[in-house]
Amino acid sequence: MKRYLQIDPWKIIEEGFHPGYNRVSESVFSTGNGKFGQRGNFEETFSGESLQGSYVAGVYYPDKTRVGWWKNGYPEYFAKVLNAPNWIGMQVWVNGEELDLAKIKEVHSFRRALDMQHGVFSREMEVSFQNGIRCRIETNRFCNLAETDSQLVSYKLTVVNSDALVVMVPFIDGKVLNSDSNYENRFWKQGVTDTRGDDLLLIATTKKTGFDVGIASNLEVVANNQRLLPKDQHSRKKFVSNRYSAKLTIGGTMELTRKNIIVSSLDVPRAQMEVHLRSRLSQLKPIPFAHLLEKHETAWRKKWEESDIVIEGDVEAQQGIRFNIFQLNCTYNGEDQRLNIGPKGFTGEKYGGSTYWDTEAYCLPFYQATADEHVAKNLLIYRYKHLQKAIENARMLGFKNGAALYPMVTMNGEECHNEWEITFEEIHRNGAIAYAIFDYIRYTGDSDYLASHGLEVLIGISRFWRQRVNWSEDKQQFVMLGVTGPNEFENNVNNNWYTNRLAVWCMKYTMQSVEWVKNIHPTDWKRIVANTGYKPEEALSWKEVVDKMYFPFSEKHNVFLQQDGFLDKELIPVAQLPESERPIVEHWSWDRILRSCYIKQADVLQGFYFFEDEFDEDTLRRHYDFYEPLTVHESSLSPCVHSILAAKLGDHRRAYEFYLRTARLDLDDYNNDTCDGLHITSMAGTWMSIVKGFAGMRVIDNHLSFKPFLPESWKSFSFHIRFRGEIMEIQVDKKGLTINGEPMAVSG
Ligand code: BGC
Repeated sequence: MKRYLQIDPWKIIEEGFHPGYNRVSESVFSTGNGKFGQRGNFEETFSGESLQGSYVAGVYYPDKTRVGWWKNGYPEYFAKVLNAPNWIGMQVWVNGEELDLAKIKEVHSFRRALDMQHGVFSREMEVSFQNGIRCRIETNRFCNLAETDSQLVSYKLTVVNSDALVVMVPFIDGKVLNSDSNYENRFWKQGVTDTRGDDLLLIATTKKTGFDVGIASNLEVVANNQRLLPKDQHSRKKFVSNRYSAKLTIGGTMELTRKNIIVSSLDVPRAQMEVHLRSRLSQLKPIPFAHLLEKHETAWRKKWEESDIVIEGDVEAQQGIRFNIFQLNCTYNGEDQRLNIGPKGFTGEKYGGSTYWDTEAYCLPFYQATADEHVAKNLLIYRYKHLQKAIENARMLGFKNGAALYPMVTMNGEECHNEWEITFEEIHRNGAIAYAIFDYIRYTGDSDYLASHGLEVLIGISRFWRQRVNWSEDKQQFVMLGVTGPNEFENNVNNNWYTNRLAVWCMKYTMQSVEWVKNIHPTDWKRIVANTGYKPEEALSWKEVVDKMYFPFSEKHNVFLQQDGFLDKELIPVAQLPESERPIVEHWSWDRILRSCYIKQADVLQGFYFFEDEFDEDTLRRHYDFYEPLTVHESSLSPCVHSILAAKLGDHRRAYEFYLRTARLDLDDYNNDTCDGLHITSMAGTWMSIVKGFAGMRVIDNHLSFKPFLPESWKSFSFHIRFRGEIMEIQVDKKGLTINGEPMAVSG
């Protein structure tokens, strides 16, 4: 755990430069606006430890797969979110010496801060160069939330102790590399570069996928109260820059205001991109920075009105949850059905920026409850639009008749993950996508979604499950062989309880939905039958599986077993593992992990979380008491589910402990991996721990219901929730729960 960032309810502050943690800070100080985002890099050169990262939503590269041994069905590529051209970069020279914090003589003061309330990242520092000149630098930048194709940077340099010649060379640099490129290939082709007066322009095109990213920067540089003209303009291969210089007298300042327009060919066709960039830039140019900032802040104010959680009595917790909410809002805005939520958002390259089951299982509830209905709906439509690709994906694996297997990892609907145990076996993701349809309708009441989109997806998914199970003569039941459950510390298991349960639930839900759509929306039903070729016998064969599915069960422990043979393992509780061997993924061989009883993340308990209405509290308790002690929680997605279940069982201490494991996961770098980027999808889980765990919020019969408790160290907590068009404020304090200030009776 690292504790070098200051505690503050609305700000993240690094006081004093911590070069050893710079990559961690760069992740933590990331900002974004749903369309693009970037790490908290310095604008000027930094030759120390750094991952320069700017990312544009939906722009990826199909990197050639690296696998030891090819297997039929493996995808050809592993998609990578692309590290985009550097659009904030600049060189700064003072009396001929370049500003580079790794080489500077002395850093007198340094402060890097993220103001989450207003969505502004800033830096203030005072440094002495080797040549003895002392300067103060003040920067501010934001990814505009009000106009999501723009970004603003202000960079001010003051010479403190002497006269000096200051040179600023702002640039756009397309010669970027992805740090996770498999073969160190460059992913960008040469595009257009141009400088005109104070404007820079660069359009870069991705190799293979042919996406274009266009960036235009307007530069306004003022020194000694005078606007400077650019001296040297460079426009060469994948790089474009302007050079400004001025002689400053002691106390004098040079200030750059940079206005960037950033678009991709997802929104602007290539043929129009240059004209578009220039025209947008000329609209932006006359508007003062302060005015643009004000509109951006207003957009953030609205976001906070919809999604803030206020915790009284615990500033660390307050900062933690706000940081999570801030980053979730930076990652996805729900306006584009082609976009989704990568596990690292715009903050790093791990997981390739692709879509995982994390979206449906963990993120949907956050967006569903804190934004307009269309935001969550667009997440579902994203999968609806990929249905044909899911059918094709299943077909390549040998399934037929419109069976759909959604990919475990995707950018465009195609599978782009190639570890056999995940690609072929971790099929529970299909169920999470079906569950999300149910969850969305339960929350929003938008049951028409079934008729317009949902049912076609459900039919495809149920067809897959039907073909994936087989009849066991021995058991006289249906079984599902060779799967990987959410617990990735076990592969190729038979009858993973969670996956079997999910499959049966999907088929039941599809059967009910078929009847409902047939009766209520006969016209849509005709279209669905025409599109899917659905036949009534299919429901009969699903019913057969629903009635005769096998679920591994232990009479002795009176619990469902995670999979066949689970009890053959040595069941030694995690508490007896030496601390020095944890996390086991870093200390044990994979072979040892696979043979052990240790569970990476909620697996059986994930099913108890999804299908809680099907089990009474005693049953839940037995399963929780059996599985939690064997769980190492080595996925950041694990603690939130355990927190919610512990809260349900009235174990408030444990609920709070689990919450703490993810609430400040990145701020305190618990897992020593924040340098790779933030755990965006688990941030939504932290939100769920408070709303579904501590407040016990559920939707029952079209109404919100609560079963709250207050963590001991908190005075109160409150949050905004959007439910069926209404924004409500829920507050929990020692006296109980209020909705919009009115005390409410609570269930349970
Ligand atoms: C988890 C998966 C998850 C992935 C991306 C893995 O470590 O085990 O469940 O989908 O991370 O967050």
